[in-house]
Amino acid sequence: MYFSRLQLAEEMCEALQGNNLFNDAPNGLFLAAPRRTGKSTFLQADLKPELEKRGIVVIYVDLWAAPMRDPGELIAEAIGRALRGQLNPISKAAKAAGLESISIAGSLKIDISKIGHPDGSTLVDALRALHESAKAPVALIIDEAQHSLTSEAGENAMTALKSARDQLNRPGQVNLMLVMSGSDRDKLLRLVNANAAPFYGSSIKHLPLLGDDFVAHLATLIERQRPELAPVDQPLLARAFQTLGHRPQFFIDILGQALSPFGTGAERHLEPVLVELAHQRLEQDRQQMESDFLALRPVEQTVIWRMLEQGARFRPYDAEALRFYSEKTDGAITRAMAQKAMEALRNRQPSMVWKSARGEYAIDDAAMHHWYAQRVAEGTWPPKDDRVGWLGVEW
Ligand SMILES: Nc1ncnc2c1ncn2[C@@H]1O[C@H](COP(=O)(O)OP(=O)(O)OP(=O)(O)O)[C@@H](O)[C@H]1O
Ligand SMILES: [Mg+2]
Repeated sequence: MYFSRLQLAEEMCEALQGNNLFNDAPNGLFLAAPRRTGKSTFLQADLKPELEKRGIVVIYVDLWAAPMRDPGELIAEAIGRALRGQLNPISKAAKAAGLESISIAGSLKIDISKIGHPDGSTLVDALRALHESAKAPVALIIDEAQHSLTSEAGENAMTALKSARDQLNRPGQVNLMLVMSGSDRDKLLRLVNANAAPFYGSSIKHLPLLGDDFVAHLATLIERQRPELAPVDQPLLARAFQTLGHRPQFFIDILGQALSPFGTGAERHLEPVLVELAHQRLEQDRQQMESDFLALRPVEQTVIWRMLEQGARFRPYDAEALRFYSEKTDGAITRAMAQKAMEALRNRQPSMVWKSARGEYAIDDAAMHHWYAQRVAEGTWPPKDDRVGWLGVEW
């Protein structure tokens, strides 16, 4: 089941093409939305086809698709692939013969396998070549763009893209469109909010979440499949979807669960069951986060705690941080011990800590901030491993 968001895609294309007055999208569109809310799906299934329909050459690259690969290389490769797609039959024959270079308009020569390398063409040249050979605007969609900041090559790629944008675009004529998405607004901000940031001056937009129209669509499907449940209470359905943080996959999953035991002649109403399942699912998420946290060593737990508490002000090894770690663990935590804990957190699969090439640290999963704030508000922070005590009483 896929719910298409055509109108949103059209609006975005208009903005990217510079058809909206007072809209900065031609300088780059930065979109944030939480995990699992349908970013990648929207970019690939709605935005990409809509751009292509308008005659634009689209390159999509997901920097999380291969987390161990350097993000700078992934971007260069994606541009290379698109360029290869533009090769004429003669150049394709050359490629088959092992020659990887193409000449554009007789002057510019691009060796596709070396794009972005010190001895190869720059990303700017490659994008210009792509634009000129396709005789069309180019749109580059970078999914999980914040990942580019974790390597120097990735950061350089971003700077190069900014430069390509400035060189290729003219007032009233957008030849290079950049769309960057990410699941963590704070990390995406690092691309735009400092003077030295590659896209300084741009702002981050929220990619709209799936909403009432998505719920209405599902309601119609349910009513068609199970006429005895009509009319479906849409506001209640919407509440369950909202409880789940607007994540379609989990919603469809609980719908499946809620619909399965009905068979014929349901004596219970579907909607309250859904709301309850949504709350259960949310509780599971919380418990998962708690057990992941409690599985960490005490020093690692305090490092995470400090990061959650300090947010952007976090410094891993300053005197105050070391004092914090020591106080909370009832031990004398040295810099070396804190570093070891940080390495362990970064090397976990999935990693719990994100580090930029410039040495800034952040919690990898942004949802953890919400979990932390909620527990602080409830007065249940820090989580305690009470299994020992519980077992003590029970046995
Ligand atoms: N418009 C939609 N209609 C139905 N299902 C959808 C829709 N968009 C996304 N989904 C489903 O939701 C799940 C998450 O989608 P997607 O991978 O696009 O999200 P994401 O925000 O990119 O996630 P991540 O943060 O993990 O990268 C997938 O199972 C996908 O099939
Ligand atoms: Mg994604």
